[in-house]
Amino acid sequence: MKGLILSGGNGTRLRPITYTSAKQLVPVANKPVLFRVIETIRDAGIVDIGIIVGNTAAEVMAAVGDGSKFGVKITYIQQDAPSGLAHAVKIAHPFIGDEKFVMFLGDNCIQGGISGLIKQFQDSTYNAQIVLKEVPNPRSFGVAELNPNGSILRLVEKPKEPKSNLALVGIYMFDSSIWHAIDSIKPSARGELEITDAIQALVDTGKTVFPYVHRGWWIDTGKKDDMLEANRLVLDEMGEQNNGSIDAASHIIGKVIIEDGAEVINSTIRGPAIIGKGTRIINSYVGPFTSIYHHCTIQNSEIEHSIVLEDCTINDLPGRLCDSLIGRSVVVSRSSARPSAYRLVLGDHSHVDVL
Ligand code: TTP
Repeated sequence: MKGLILSGGNGTRLRPITYTSAKQLVPVANKPVLFRVIETIRDAGIVDIGIIVGNTAAEVMAAVGDGSKFGVKITYIQQDAPSGLAHAVKIAHPFIGDEKFVMFLGDNCIQGGISGLIKQFQDSTYNAQIVLKEVPNPRSFGVAELNPNGSILRLVEKPKEPKSNLALVGIYMFDSSIWHAIDSIKPSARGELEITDAIQALVDTGKTVFPYVHRGWWIDTGKKDDMLEANRLVLDEMGEQNNGSIDAASHIIGKVIIEDGAEVINSTIRGPAIIGKGTRIINSYVGPFTSIYHHCTIQNSEIEHSIVLEDCTINDLPGRLCDSLIGRSVVVSRSSARPSAYRLVLGDHSHVDVL
């Protein structure tokens, strides 16, 4: 069995972060979502993994490499344009051949337990297996309508009037019947080859598509608040560890991970939280559900329920930073320069809430 991860796409909902980086590489609890997906597939015993890449190919390749650091072998497959999930699968046919495979969206974050499901599919006679999750807002997802016996009646992409609250989680397992199904579908109204249409074609031609309803949490990290929610859920499940240094004047409360070489000086960290390699927290407060990535400096400031990417400086802030996603090498600081004012350099589609 092979693995396929979709890591192309436009990531428009996560701008401006995605103007300069791949959304799949945004870290949740200091580990990129894409790395978590690779590890889940590997834990199911699959070592041959293809990754679909788009215009962030170079960055994804630099971060993942040949896969050896995860104990897998990675093959990159370039998609010229984000023409749909089924299009991404179609161009992976030469890599997958006629083997069974599991396909993951590279920006989905899911609670454990999925590796066993993948192994089960490997040994089953199903033509496909899809993972469903009850959601409060089915209009935003591909939605499955089930027959009374639990089999699939219909799949609809982002329905205006959803017939169920079961969304398709971004994990799909297929055998070789998917190739004919993809060849039989046409682009949708939004111009994409939809995976829901391909799976519907499997259902319509009498193939066995087994729906599995996932009980744990699942987050499609398409937007800032989804990222923060995934970060909250993952941090909540982590333990505590100190590989850095904490001075005598600091207080560490609850589950906090301090990574290699990080320093906490005269500060309070209330977990769950993670402080990345080489980061310095000085005279500051880091509150629950916060992930500070590598080589940042947080000084004379307060921050909670936020994700900060690498090499950032946050200095002398008069108020607490909350609910924020801060990109790489960002500087947020108080200035004594006159006139006293907010001075901003923001990328397109940035979002700032001030006091
Ligand atoms: P989406 O989140 O549906 O699309 P997107 O990444 O373009 O984001 P947005 O809607 O904010 O513009 O994609 C789900 C995953 O699949 C994501 O990891 C990107 C990937 N993908 C591809 O690799 N190729 C594609 O053609 C599409 C549509 C998505």
